[in-house]
Amino acid sequence: MQALRDDTFRRITDLMHGAIGLSFNESKKPLVSSRLGPRIQRLGLPDYDAYVDLISRPGDGGEFQMAVDLLTTNETYFFREPAHFDLLERELAATKPASVAVWSAASSFGDEAYSTAMLLADMHAQGRIGTDWSILGTDISDRVLHAAIEAIYPEERLRNVTPQRIRRHCLRGEGSAQGMVQVGAELRRRVRFGQLNLCRPIEKLGPFDVVFLRNVLIYFDAATKVEVVDRVLGELRPGGLFFIGIAEGRVPCRTPLQTLAPGAFRKVA
Ligand SMILES: C[S@@+](CC[C@H](N)C(=O)[O-])C[C@H]1O[C@@H](n2cnc3c(N)ncnc32)[C@H](O)[C@@H]1O
Repeated sequence: MQALRDDTFRRITDLMHGAIGLSFNESKKPLVSSRLGPRIQRLGLPDYDAYVDLISRPGDGGEFQMAVDLLTTNETYFFREPAHFDLLERELAATKPASVAVWSAASSFGDEAYSTAMLLADMHAQGRIGTDWSILGTDISDRVLHAAIEAIYPEERLRNVTPQRIRRHCLRGEGSAQGMVQVGAELRRRVRFGQLNLCRPIEKLGPFDVVFLRNVLIYFDAATKVEVVDRVLGELRPGGLFFIGIAEGRVPCRTPLQTLAPGAFRKVA
């Protein structure tokens, strides 16, 4: 197949930026070409232009989604950046709220949402928070959302979870499912998943007490980052906790935030 031409690369980046805010500069051309190339060959298409024609066609949500999945990374695991979960536990323990509503706003396969569910279930069992806690996970990708609802994971993804916590909240696979775990039904009932594009206006979802927006801003350009962060913070109650990825730095959003730790903030009341 011929190399990805500059004008075709621009068609791809314009399409992805307009639809979901993904931002790729010239240096990302080899990445775009190596991620999409094998897919184009598998589909038997002659070149990158034919693929851009396909994903630009109205109604071709399926292949467009596939392209998004190929161009972003869904990497995630349980209790990623554990300092955030420790901080959340300390903050909740200090206030003993009767209810806690959490939003995992780029939930990928659900690891972040279920990690939070494990923490809240344990805190509730210890009488440190009330009964009324719930979690919403959203992502743009259908594929990851389906997997999140099934909640079946290779054990390796739970490497940061203690064996006791795994025993309390998960079922271990046997036979052909050896090495896999499924989050138990009780936790799955507390966690809902839905599709949501962070680059489009959000219909009222909150207010939430805690919002995770971790490891997704990296895909957006500076202006889109600010827009997304302000939009998401509109769903967080004043005084609520907001987490972004530890390495993502502070976003110059318009919503006033107090910094608590790297990647951890409180929305100023
Ligand atoms: C690296 S994962 C982050 C998962 C989790 N928050 C964590 O930190 O482990 C990034 C996720 O962002 C999602 N994503 C990318 N662009 C998005 C958009 N415009 N709206 C919603 N989700 C998006 C991707 O589908 C992917 O699942």
